[in-house]
Amino acid sequence: MSDIAAFIRGLPKIELHLHIEGSLEPELRFALAQRNRTQLAYADVAELRASYRFNDLTSFLVSYYEGMEVLVTADDFYDLAWAYLRRANDENVRYVEMFFDPQAHTSRGVAFGRIVGGLRRAIVDARQQLGVRAELIMCFLRDYPAEYAMATLVQSLPYREWIVGVGLDSDERDNPPTKFAEVFARARSEGYQITMHCDVDQNNTVEHIRQCLDVIGVDRIDHGVNVLESEELTMEVGRRGLGLTTCPISNRWVTGDLKAAEIKRLLEFGLRVTVNSDDPAYFGAYVTDNLVALQEAADLGPAELVQLERNAIEISWLPSRAKDELITEIERYADMR
Ligand code: ADE
Ligand code: ZN
Repeated sequence: MSDIAAFIRGLPKIELHLHIEGSLEPELRFALAQRNRTQLAYADVAELRASYRFNDLTSFLVSYYEGMEVLVTADDFYDLAWAYLRRANDENVRYVEMFFDPQAHTSRGVAFGRIVGGLRRAIVDARQQLGVRAELIMCFLRDYPAEYAMATLVQSLPYREWIVGVGLDSDERDNPPTKFAEVFARARSEGYQITMHCDVDQNNTVEHIRQCLDVIGVDRIDHGVNVLESEELTMEVGRRGLGLTTCPISNRWVTGDLKAAEIKRLLEFGLRVTVNSDDPAYFGAYVTDNLVALQEAADLGPAELVQLERNAIEISWLPSRAKDELITEIERYADMR
C-alpha cells in the first residue's frame, strides 16, 4: 500500500452520501432470502455479482430495487445497517448520515415502523459497541407522485427524533425538485434538514441545482458536480456555504468518468465538497476506495484529503460540540503524520 493510501485508510472519515440499501452485499442478500424463505433468481453470489452490468442511473436502479426485495422484517433492516456500520468502523469512518428509501419498502407492504425501528436499533448498537455515530436521512423516491412523498412524510412524524433530515433520490429524468416543493416546505416546517440528489450528467441537472437553490432552499446537494457548468450557481453555492456530497466511483459506473478533475476544481474553488460511496455493494467500493481513486486521479495531497473530511464535518447535521470533537480528532491524526 502506498504511503498516501495508508494515510487515507487511517484518516478519521465521515460519510454523508450512503444509501443503506445500496450497502446490501450479495452474501447478506442470500442469507436474508434464505431466512425469509424466498428464492433468488441467481444460483450463487458470483452469478449475482455478474448481473451488475449497469451503465447509467436507470439501469443501476433496476438492480438496486430488485436487491432490496429480501428486506422484510425489522431484523433484516438491523442486519443490513449493522453490517455496514461494522465495515465502516473497520475503515475508521467516525460518523455517517445514511439515506434510507422507505417507499421502496412500504410499496411492498413493509410497515414504516419496522424499517426505521430496525435501522435505529443498529445505530444505537454501533454507537455503544463500536463508538461509531450515525443518523438517518429519509429519502423520497422522485419517480413516485408527490402525494405519496407527503403521506410518507406524515408517516415519519412519530419517529421525528430518529430522522435528522429528508432527501430526494431515484430516477431524476422528468422528476425535478419543484415537483416536491410542498413536501419539502412541510418537511422544513417539521424541523427536518433538507438535501436532494442532483445526479451527475442527467438531463437538466443544472436547472435542478438552480431549483434546489431558488425554490427548495436546500441545506446541501447530493452529487451536484454539474454546478461547474454555471458560474453564477457555483458562486451562489459558495456564498451560501452549501456542501456537495460527491461519489467518484458511482460516477464512473453511471457516466464512465470519476469526475476527478471536477471534484478537484470544486475543492480549489473553496466549495465544501466531500467524498462518499453512494451504493458501495453495487459499485464495489466503500469510502476509502473512493478517496484512494480520487487521490490517484486528481493527485491530491494530505492537506486536500484532510480538507475533504473537514468539509464533511462542517456540512454535517451534527451538533456543534460533536463537530468540534471530530475536527480535533482529524487534526490530531494529521499532526501525527
Ligand atoms: N438511489 C440509490 N442510489 C442512487 C443514486 N446514485 N442516485 C439516485 N438515486 C439513488
Ligand atoms: Zn445517491
